[in-house]
Amino acid sequence: MEIDKTSSLHFAKCGQTVHPDLANLFKGFSKLSKDERLNALKEFGLLEKSEIEYLQKGGLKDTSLGEKFVENVIGYFQVPLGVATNFNIDGKDFVIPMAVEETSIVAAASKTAKWVRECGHIKTEIIGSEIIGQIQLAKVKDFAKFKNQIETAKAEFIKTSNEEVAFGMVRRGGGVTDIQVREIIRPDGLSMAIVHVHMNPVDAMGANIVNQVCEFLKNPIQELTNEKVTMCILSNLVDTKLTKATVVVENIEADLAEKIEEASLFSQLDPYRAATNNKGVLNGIDPILIATGNDWRAVEAGVHAYASRDGQYRSITRWYRDGKNLVGELIAPIIVGTVGGVTSLHPTAGLCLKMMKTQGAGELSRVIAAVGLVQNLGALKALTTVGIIEGHMKLHIKNLTLAAGASEVELPFVQKKLEEILSLKKRISLSHAIEVLKELRSRVQTSSDRN
Ligand code: HMG
Repeated sequence: MEIDKTSSLHFAKCGQTVHPDLANLFKGFSKLSKDERLNALKEFGLLEKSEIEYLQKGGLKDTSLGEKFVENVIGYFQVPLGVATNFNIDGKDFVIPMAVEETSIVAAASKTAKWVRECGHIKTEIIGSEIIGQIQLAKVKDFAKFKNQIETAKAEFIKTSNEEVAFGMVRRGGGVTDIQVREIIRPDGLSMAIVHVHMNPVDAMGANIVNQVCEFLKNPIQELTNEKVTMCILSNLVDTKLTKATVVVENIEADLAEKIEEASLFSQLDPYRAATNNKGVLNGIDPILIATGNDWRAVEAGVHAYASRDGQYRSITRWYRDGKNLVGELIAPIIVGTVGGVTSLHPTAGLCLKMMKTQGAGELSRVIAAVGLVQNLGALKALTTVGIIEGHMKLHIKNLTLAAGASEVELPFVQKKLEEILSLKKRISLSHAIEVLKELRSRVQTSSDRN
């Protein structure tokens, strides 16, 4: 299939035409073969020939890089890499790389982004700029005195941390910006003191550097206060740097908007539902984190902690009606980097970051939040209308067909028959696929016997 890079615009937004360039890439992308997809990405300047060759060969093979990352390496674990299309975030088009094993995530993200693109918009912002490092003093004799000592020395601590440890960050426009002291009353009634070190990590995730600053401050704090530091480590609950995405779908069917609002209320009020809802949001978030070499465990931990901030686990998204529009919001700590660590070393991560054309960690975080929110909308739309099984199974049919042992030639026949069974019975299983394949082969055998 040919993609026309120059033809008139394909996406009409409420009667207008917008976003000439990648809009043409997105049109028909899901119907292309794998090689056509790669070529299309190359034509639009998102992949180079050498990167296509690398992907076609199956990506990273040589384990020497893996040995630099982890211990006792015996190989690589391969996860499919797809791209979600149709995303227009803050007026800019994005191709979204997603490394994920679960059927329907990439399709649902692309489908829902297409809907939002045609009938609404996505806006994002970052609230705050600092990550947090923690220094624990398990028992302090006099908390008020300790707090006062740290606050008096704060400016000096910030200055020396920036001069002696975080100088690289300072050069890039970041560095340590604040030091705060918290008290936690222990079960035995004594005071635990926690020193929070705030740092702007610019385009890095900042884990290493904030840990270094905390460890650097350990001795000066002990010497100044005559109290004992127990441990130093960053916090993944970064409520000082939150990413917000807002999706608006204009003139949505009233009944659908109401159902989505009700589904959202369910996930606000019930932790059992909130867990599943947030899993659906993370379906959009984790695959991008993995594809770009970011620490998805850190983001997961932060998201779940933030979802529990008022003492009950709740949805990190909220959908509500605003006149004829449906509005969705996601606010969560999504701390990522575009420099340093795996992001710079893993060639697939480098390729994915390049393909996204994001300008630094802030934009990457905003794009990730937007995809998580759109993914959530796609799942809620399916759940409140046809149910989740239909679309999932439609895509799963191919896996079942292959698992039943169908050849390339048999594949389309078996798939078509399974789609008929699915629409009739509303469910499908491997035994259906085996049965259909058996029938097909016996029909082929009979006709060849006749000939
Ligand atoms: P459909 O309407 O049958 O798809 O939806 P379609 O064939 O009409 O295509 C529509 C668009 O979908 C396409 O546009 C593509 O963008 C995309 P086009 O390119 O034709 O202009 N699309 C695809 N893209 C790539 N490859 C494909 C493909 N098929 C469609 N093969 C679909 C089918 C699965 C998208 C739909 O039924 C859907 O969105 N379902 C929801 C699925 C979902 O949310 N999956 C996430 C995993 S479920 C889960 O774990 C989370 C959950 O528990 C969370 C929660 O509870 O909140 C549910």
